[in-house]
Amino acid sequence: MSSDDLRIWLNHFEYHAEHPRRIPLGLPDLLTAQERRLIAPSIATFQLGEQSAGATLQRAAERFAERRALASLPRIVELFILEEQRHAALLKHFMEDHGIALKHRDWTDSVFRQLRRIAGFELYLYVLLCAELIGKVYYRALEAATGCQRLKVLCRIMVCEELAHIGFESQLLLALRAERRAPLRLGLRIAHRTLVAGAAAVVWMTHRSVLRRAGYGPTSFLRSCLAHYAFYLEPGPARVAHVSPR
Ligand SMILES: [Fe+2]
Ligand SMILES: [Fe+2]
Repeated sequence: MSSDDLRIWLNHFEYHAEHPRRIPLGLPDLLTAQERRLIAPSIATFQLGEQSAGATLQRAAERFAERRALASLPRIVELFILEEQRHAALLKHFMEDHGIALKHRDWTDSVFRQLRRIAGFELYLYVLLCAELIGKVYYRALEAATGCQRLKVLCRIMVCEELAHIGFESQLLLALRAERRAPLRLGLRIAHRTLVAGAAAVVWMTHRSVLRRAGYGPTSFLRSCLAHYAFYLEPGPARVAHVSPR
């Protein structure tokens, strides 16, 4: 990834930090009791996940940026973390307004946290991207599953911002993967695709009532997650830029 690419991403995150997307005031905010029961445990797990990127990622990014002389990377990661924390806050306010209890622990979130804790920046990116790809499919499904206008707009904001996160992280990851020798590249691709498929299966098992309401079955959900993986992480060679210092 060139210094120009990093500058573009820095501008992107700085612009959205200064101009955060907001839910318009006065939007209809009716969530039926049946919908509330359907989404409550599911949305609470995703709200918990939204706040999980933080100090560990920032430290890993700083060490990585120092080794690679990528001066703007720590600031980009800092702004990315703030954006994820805004996602958590948007969901939290919605949940509080509808009497949905927050979660403070969930085994799927704990597994992701542990994986990221033992990883360096590059491996952290693999795990993070896996969560982002599946999260994007999930928020689209949540939007389709509800008739609540406020929640629909909230989901659109999340999808829009997760897409930018996926764009940034996949561009960086592809550049890093391109530096590896061919057999290792192949191994990393297979391992990452397996991680995405495994995580999608777990998300199906634990959020299937929302996903079913949106029209997904287990196969179509898995196919959708893997199609996103393929689109972003198995592109032709023309889209892969190298990581170069600023
Ligand atoms: Fe997010
Ligand atoms: Fe994200």
